[in-house]
Amino acid sequence: MKKERWTLDQMPQQTGRIAVVTGANSGLGFNTAKALALKGAKVIMACRNVEKGKLASLTIINEGAEVKPEVWQLDLASLKSVQQFAEKFSKSVDRLDLLINNAGLMAIPYARTEDGFEMQFGVNHLGHFALTARLWPLISLTEGSRVVQVSSLAHRWGKIRKEDIHWEQGYKKWGAYGMSKLANLLFIRELSNRLESRDISLMALVAHPGYANTALQAKGSRMQGARLGAAFFDLANRLVAQSAAMGALPSLYAASATDVIQGAYYGPGGIMKLHGWPKEDFPDRKLVTDNAAGELWDISETLTGVRFAV
Ligand SMILES: NC(=O)c1ccc[n+]([C@@H]2O[C@H](COP(=O)([O-])OP(=O)(O)OC[C@H]3O[C@@H](n4cnc5c(N)ncnc54)[C@H](OP(=O)(O)O)[C@@H]3O)[C@@H](O)[C@H]2O)c1
Repeated sequence: MKKERWTLDQMPQQTGRIAVVTGANSGLGFNTAKALALKGAKVIMACRNVEKGKLASLTIINEGAEVKPEVWQLDLASLKSVQQFAEKFSKSVDRLDLLINNAGLMAIPYARTEDGFEMQFGVNHLGHFALTARLWPLISLTEGSRVVQVSSLAHRWGKIRKEDIHWEQGYKKWGAYGMSKLANLLFIRELSNRLESRDISLMALVAHPGYANTALQAKGSRMQGARLGAAFFDLANRLVAQSAAMGALPSLYAASATDVIQGAYYGPGGIMKLHGWPKEDFPDRKLVTDNAAGELWDISETLTGVRFAV
């Protein structure tokens, strides 16, 4: 029998649940936060720029969210900021049902985080790794909680450069993006492997949006002052990409559907996996291995100085 397509109408009510969405002021994160809030969840919008976050939260409130989303400052390019966010969270909230690790940067000029990590690996992977580890005591105490990590089809270009993890030699902005998105998948592989041996309801999952029209694609060109490049991505987004709301559906599916599988990867099921309704997808089997996942976990604990109590 053909499976019915999954839309927001199928999304279960989220009343009573608490969700953290990183990068919730824009693109997929905004659409994820909005859908969760309109279904009744209390959403903490974890944003680098609080002013942008507040504007985005007003839109969600105006669309009819019963529980007003809160905007909290979080800069994933700073381990100190991650720690402060988690400490504030643990002091003021007693459960965490959903952690949506969504924020990201793509193909930007070489930069480093406050702690000296290459920026894309630092924000897209290490910042989320540290955030998840620091929020772990609450996540693991909350019945039915889920961690959803947003990755990308671009993980297929990735290679974890153990010998030069911060790209000090021969930086390639697309290679660094691919590595960070591969790291997202390896992180959840290892986390779900560790969870499988335990009898708890917590799930760790990965989503990707296919190709969605957001600020992500042109940002790198804008940062470089490459106006032609930015115009190209803006045009391609208008002509080829699906909407950001459609792109957010795999994250929402992973966060809320009742038939998800521990450790699975969800993305659009339509043409070339770039468009369409959420469906189980499969990462590159040669890249996403248990061995590589275990190695990256150790590297991530060492670099961030944060250990998971899993
Ligand atoms: N759009 C696509 O086609 C596509 C495809 C594959 C994967 N993805 C993934 O989807 C996720 C969301 O991207 P998007 O497309 O929605 O792009 P977006 O509209 O540019 O949103 C990215 C979000 O990440 C935030 N962010 C960036 N650096 C941060 C930091 N240091 N600390 C905290 N937040 C930070 C941004 O904040 P500011 O607004 O302050 O910069 C923004 O809220 C990313 O992980 C991306 O890799 C997207």
